[in-house]
Amino acid sequence: MSGGRGSLLFSGPLRDDAVDACLDGELRELLCLCFSDECFRRGRYCKEAPQHRWLVRDEGKLVAHCALHEKRVRVEGEFFAVGGLSEVCVHPGYRGRGLVREMVAEVADWSQERGFSFLLLFGAEAVYRSSGFVAVKNLCSEIVRENGEVVCGATTAGMVLPLRGTRWFEGGSVYLIGQGF
Ligand SMILES: CC(C)(COP(=O)(O)OP(=O)(O)OC[C@H]1O[C@@H](n2cnc3c(N)ncnc32)[C@H](O)[C@@H]1OP(=O)(O)O)[C@@H](O)C(=O)NCCC(=O)NCCS
Repeated sequence: MSGGRGSLLFSGPLRDDAVDACLDGELRELLCLCFSDECFRRGRYCKEAPQHRWLVRDEGKLVAHCALHEKRVRVEGEFFAVGGLSEVCVHPGYRGRGLVREMVAEVADWSQERGFSFLLLFGAEAVYRSSGFVAVKNLCSEIVRENGEVVCGATTAGMVLPLRGTRWFEGGSVYLIGQGF
């Protein structure tokens, strides 16, 4: 996706492994402006590198960003591809114009075409509700014990956006595979 809206230029997805030193600096500057997490002073992600990023620029200046992790969830032995949305941030001078909704819509379209069943995130409900996300309470990180037993780690209050007409799984635990993001 690449397109202009007024003076704003939307682009993405951009692969994270294609990020050069210049863009890395721009991303870290914006992330440090938006988040107090120390990790962004050292790098452009905290726990795990995302695979994809979406950017919004105004006359060349980076003003908004979000990242997407390719993840899987497991429900009753079946795996589903999900997109984990993270590091959603908008420069303070550009907030309140619907840039989150526009970026999420772009990410959702792409993720749906890509075959993901859901977008998933951990964030404030008030920010993502109007983009169609709903809160879920049965998502947990998967922990595999030394004896092979699989147990639920911390149950986290995530939000999901169903794609491709898939319904969220009520009832039992939904395991997020691999490292959190
Ligand atoms: C949160 C943030 C991304 C919102 O950016 P924005 O450009 O103002 O977002 P939008 O204009 O697209 O608004 C989307 C929705 O979020 C709501 N919203 C925006 N900022 C909010 C806040 N701080 N608290 C609660 N809701 C908020 C808006 O009211 C809007 O809701 P609506 O569509 O129901 O009217 C921006 O303030 C930011 O970068 N904050 C710092 C980083 C951060 O907290 N990121 C999100 C992590 S969950």
